[in-house]
Amino acid sequence: MAHKVAVIGGTGLCDWPGVQPGKVRRINTVYGAPSADLQSLQFDDLEFLFLPRHGGKHSIPPHKINYRANLSALHSVGVTQILAVNAVGGIGSRFGSGVIAIPDQLNDYTWGREHTFFDGEDGAVEHIDFSYPYSESLRQQLISAAQTLAMPIVPEGCYAATQGPRLETAAEIRRLARDGNDLVGMTGMPEAALARELEMDYASVCLVVNPAAGETEALITMDDIRRVLDTGMAQVKQLLAASLRRLQV
Ligand code: HPA
Repeated sequence: MAHKVAVIGGTGLCDWPGVQPGKVRRINTVYGAPSADLQSLQFDDLEFLFLPRHGGKHSIPPHKINYRANLSALHSVGVTQILAVNAVGGIGSRFGSGVIAIPDQLNDYTWGREHTFFDGEDGAVEHIDFSYPYSESLRQQLISAAQTLAMPIVPEGCYAATQGPRLETAAEIRRLARDGNDLVGMTGMPEAALARELEMDYASVCLVVNPAAGETEALITMDDIRRVLDTGMAQVKQLLAASLRRLQV
């Protein structure tokens, strides 16, 4: 069966307990293997595909993810819409810990990643339009789903994709703030651009799991992040479920 919608899960969303597991599909692509088998999930009458970006055991760091294989695998089984989940640091007072944001812009600071399907090997040079990196219709579906749930979210934001795996310095975050960024994470690119190259609709649900470096007096600890992840991802799942329902009617 062709799948229309896929969720790419990030940190804190490697599995989806409580949701009925369906078929598992092992896909290989010309770019290599995706982060994990594609898992078909079902709840109520909804069916969607799930791919944990960091692998089923959260073992692949952001700069080692085979983004091309992930997007190519989803495309090969007929996915046309992707809801991506990203745990991020927040910049500025609107983006405190626990906030869910639906970004509408991004800046790419990553380097050295395989970031395009159009690498000229077929003798053609291609340039995609990427003025608005996220699908506006998918963003609006997410925003409307949040309204239906009376779930407070921030319906916009500029996402900075950094290389990782280390977190940023306070000076780097000051620079990212000057550049107009609100959210900082390590996996949003090249994922969004690869989806656009394959003409798949793509939107991101960002969960702020820590104030970015230097935004508060405190240092960033994994314990603090984990605490926000636990409660925040439960909300993200609710939002995804409501959005999937809207996408599949
Ligand atoms: N910076 C980059 N990536 C992140 C952060 C951060 O502060 N928090 C979660 N992912």
